Amino acid sequence: MPMMEAVRIESFGGPDVLRLQQVLVPSPGAAEILLKVHAASVNPVDYKIRSGKYPAVKSDMLPYTLGRDASGLAVACGPGVTIAEKGDALYAVPAIDRGCYAQYVIVKQKEAARKPSSLDHVMAAAVPLAGLTAWQGLFRHGGLEAGQRVLIHGGAGGVGHFAIQLAKAKGAYVVTTVSKDNIDFARQLGADEVIDYKNERFEHKVSGMDMVFDLVAGETQDRSWGVLKKGGILVSTLTPPPPEKAAKYGVRGMRYTVKESGAELAEIAALIDAGKVVPHVARTYPLNEAAAAHEFLEKGSITGKIVLVVEG
Ligand SMILES: NC(=O)c1ccc[n+]([C@@H]2O[C@H](COP(=O)([O-])OP(=O)(O)OC[C@H]3O[C@@H](n4cnc5c(N)ncnc54)[C@H](OP(=O)(O)O)[C@@H]3O)[C@@H](O)[C@H]2O)c1
Repeated sequence: MPMMEAVRIESFGGPDVLRLQQVLVPSPGAAEILLKVHAASVNPVDYKIRSGKYPAVKSDMLPYTLGRDASGLAVACGPGVTIAEKGDALYAVPAIDRGCYAQYVIVKQKEAARKPSSLDHVMAAAVPLAGLTAWQGLFRHGGLEAGQRVLIHGGAGGVGHFAIQLAKAKGAYVVTTVSKDNIDFARQLGADEVIDYKNERFEHKVSGMDMVFDLVAGETQDRSWGVLKKGGILVSTLTPPPPEKAAKYGVRGMRYTVKESGAELAEIAALIDAGKVVPHVARTYPLNEAAAAHEFLEKGSITGKIVLVVEG
């Protein structure tokens, strides 16, 4: 039976619980594709899962292969696959039961799309989970439209740097909060106004927003209600906004979890290939240094994304 390398956890804990192990290469079933992973990104959910703090991955799922997204080549297609043939380059967010810190991963065809042709696999792997999260927060849940005003908290991170570019591509007016070192980065991404959240109070600088996209939570979310106009919406990737707060300000609030979607990944790929969205990869690590990648991301202050390069 063919074997592959995968980074797995057998127990929850710090970066030291990550293990590079030999496991069986899976076989694709109906409507499934075996993807040879060239690169996989590192997302905050990975260290939340690793530490046992993510409710969707409990101890009955151990040993567990980490990694929520990847870019690679289709090497085998199960019956009923129509989106790809052997040899096609794809990128994907598989469901949480299949990890991408591995040489191969099974993706269902509804979870995958053609990799943006203008990007190599390392750049493409930076996109799926963070890009989809930004897309769904802004458009599926926030309903952001051209001409509207959005405040994006955490604009320099993985999700935030895509959110700025997607909102601008839509024709929205974008205000974002970042720390000082990322002010120029956020401007280059197209933000109309950039607020240094460590030295300025965003609620003193903006008002009348149609949407707040909250990638930070805590007191940042709490201080955001007053910047929305009546009927506006606060969408969070983190803490469910208290309904009484939203009611008090005459606005709406919601929290969501990103959903796999090959169709939306295809829309994002089209924007990338049109030059409207450019991923930023801050660092790469080889697969066997996933622990170092986790340590770096967990410290915070990331600009863009971290990607694991998978050999072999
Ligand atoms: N619900 C879902 O489905 C879903 C999906 C994806 C992500 N998430 C969550 O959403 C959050 C963001 O994800 P990500 O991938 O973008 O994380 P990330 O890449 O780690 O980025 C976090 C960013 O937030 C910035 N930041 C920290 N405190 C801030 C503050 N008070 N104001 C403004 N910016 C601040 C950091 O920059 P500096 O510290 O340098 O300022 C960093 O750039 C994570 O907690 C993640 O787990 C949820």
